[in-house]
Amino acid sequence: MKLLFLGDVVGRSGRKVVAALLPGLIEKHRFDFVVVNGENAAGGFGITEATLAEIVGAGADCVTTGNHVWDQREALTFADRQERFLRPANYPPGTPGRGANVYTAKNGARVLVVNVMGAVFMPSLDDPFQAVTRELSACAIGNGCDAIVVDMHAEASSEKQTMGYYLDGKASLVIGTHTHVPTADARVLPGGTAFMTDVGMCGDYDSIIGMEKDEPLRRATTKIPSARFGPATGAGAISCLAVETDDATGLARRAAAIRIGPGLEPAEPDF
Ligand SMILES: [Fe+2]
Ligand SMILES: [Fe+2]
Repeated sequence: MKLLFLGDVVGRSGRKVVAALLPGLIEKHRFDFVVVNGENAAGGFGITEATLAEIVGAGADCVTTGNHVWDQREALTFADRQERFLRPANYPPGTPGRGANVYTAKNGARVLVVNVMGAVFMPSLDDPFQAVTRELSACAIGNGCDAIVVDMHAEASSEKQTMGYYLDGKASLVIGTHTHVPTADARVLPGGTAFMTDVGMCGDYDSIIGMEKDEPLRRATTKIPSARFGPATGAGAISCLAVETDDATGLARRAAAIRIGPGLEPAEPDF
């Protein structure tokens, strides 16, 4: 089975490049299941029901989020009814929406997706390791699902790698999101879990993590906020991870980055 995970979609540039390239990638590489992090899809901050629909329309089977999930207040109203939408699982009990869900992939396989937010340099939620333990003990590969994808939305590389090794052999893929910068460490861990510290973003890379550069530059030098941050609006690039899993075990055989568009060194897997 083939999985594809796309990094945080930032603003219109991100949505445009995902809509332009994702359908062709799915067709060319025959991806069975696609997850997209959409926490910055609407104007760089949060996600609306319309932008969620755009990403699903481009081919996403599941859209994960992170610390920006509620920036667009309407997310609180559609979180429960939009089954393809996930918010981090370690929000307090009673938070709208789901932190994990099982989906049927194109090949008929059942895929559990878990979205969780890190604890280091992030808003304080419940413990992410307890949250994934809870979700994976309710639904394990071979006992409730055929593959598991965990989006570890976190700032610290060390915490993301810790989650990778914590779930090594239990998840098909553990992938870091949030920093908007792709790391060069896509690999399969010894126990068979595909891992990448951060998958990067889908958006305009001529920017500061997807935002127009002027205001971050001004704030860094003057220490005075003088405008709101806004997403950069130039041509977007996509940064993703492709994973091939073994149907018998649900674990990963190969993992390779896909990078297409301005500002990124091109990469496309040979599988
Ligand atoms: Fe993000
Ligand atoms: Fe984030």
